[in-house]
Amino acid sequence: MQKAKKFLSLILILSLFASLLTFSSGAVGTFEEWQQGWEEIKASSGYITLTPGEDETQMNFSWQSSFLSFDEQIVIGKSADLSDAVNLKTKRELNIFGFEWTHNATATDLEAETTYYYRYTVNKVESEVYSFTTGSADSTTVLFVTDSQIGRSSGTQEEIYMNDTYGWTQTLDTAFANNDIDFILSGGDQVEDSYSEEQYTYYESPSILRSAPVAAAIGNHDFYTTNYSHHFNNPNDNTFSLFRWPAGQGYYFSYNDVLFIVVDSNNFLPSANRRVIKNACEDYPDAKWRVLMMHHSPFDVRGADDIANKFARKTVAPFVDEFDIDICLNGHDHYYSRSHMIKDGKVTDDVCENGVYTNPEGTLYLTQNSSSGSNYSGIGDEMSEHCAFALQEKRTSYSVLNIVGNTLTVTSYHTDTNEMFDTITIEKE
Ligand SMILES: [Fe+2]
Repeated sequence: MQKAKKFLSLILILSLFASLLTFSSGAVGTFEEWQQGWEEIKASSGYITLTPGEDETQMNFSWQSSFLSFDEQIVIGKSADLSDAVNLKTKRELNIFGFEWTHNATATDLEAETTYYYRYTVNKVESEVYSFTTGSADSTTVLFVTDSQIGRSSGTQEEIYMNDTYGWTQTLDTAFANNDIDFILSGGDQVEDSYSEEQYTYYESPSILRSAPVAAAIGNHDFYTTNYSHHFNNPNDNTFSLFRWPAGQGYYFSYNDVLFIVVDSNNFLPSANRRVIKNACEDYPDAKWRVLMMHHSPFDVRGADDIANKFARKTVAPFVDEFDIDICLNGHDHYYSRSHMIKDGKVTDDVCENGVYTNPEGTLYLTQNSSSGSNYSGIGDEMSEHCAFALQEKRTSYSVLNIVGNTLTVTSYHTDTNEMFDTITIEKE
């Protein structure tokens, strides 16, 4: 009897330990479990997307309806039953690629650490009630992922879409299960084919995206159609430029004391990129931190041997210096790469002591790997002089930026084990 009790206790302890392990990795479940919902995802006509608003008191929404249904509604309130909900003003645009309407709305006057509930209509049919919770005013925690590139891997068309969507969902679910994230930065190449509404549907299918806003960069797979701009209702995206690609040209927003700027590095006009950064810095002069995101990596482990990366050294990097950007987040390369501090195209004298740069002169460039595992690239045999650390283990990964007061820390994790593999801190004294 005593032995049986001990055995039962052991089983209980082991199962508790196993449940803690499951929680700490927080994965979406096995592929087979996830696959059971695939037919429903495939049948979906699309999903609503949340995007950060101009600052932490706003939230932007974007969704599509059929060409025959142009008058759609969205309501938002603090009560779960929507008894206090108000109608948001909506604005619609025709998306010629999907031959459908895009509806945009903005919620304003949001309070910190508060849950809001919303419901919207598609083709006059009401959605279920979704919710999101705003972040704390004292700290900013952001998930950085890139190159989900749904549609890129190999196999039959069905296998490709399932593989890429599962990988993407798993990265989001793991990151959110283990971190208190305010919003997502997605570094571009959200989909393989910009003209494919179907790929956007798969990109937007993870349920996390009904509760967490995503600010996405324009990748070289996104820039050439208007689909990107119909799926992301970006704040402050009306900057004048002599030239912009159909997807747009970059935008910016403030969150607590951090200014986030997103530049379209496919744009070959340096003046267009400079204007976005300049306008952002002028509109939010009091931001303590400046974070820039663009698809191409000018100072990656391979010395920007990709022609578009080299191009970004000329068309964006000079303005990263001019406007004192603290960190530049990149994608495109499908490997992980973190630079030394860079200024004027050179490694600065800034010293990294025990993983901390204090009052650095230069900017840190960080490139994340594919968030879906749809494609990986080699890091080459030789590390560029600009690079401090690089990794290619052909595993999906993500980074978390945590900004509190004078400290910005970026920590990177493998999705499959949630094991941390790199961390770096910038301190401003
Ligand atoms: Fe890519």
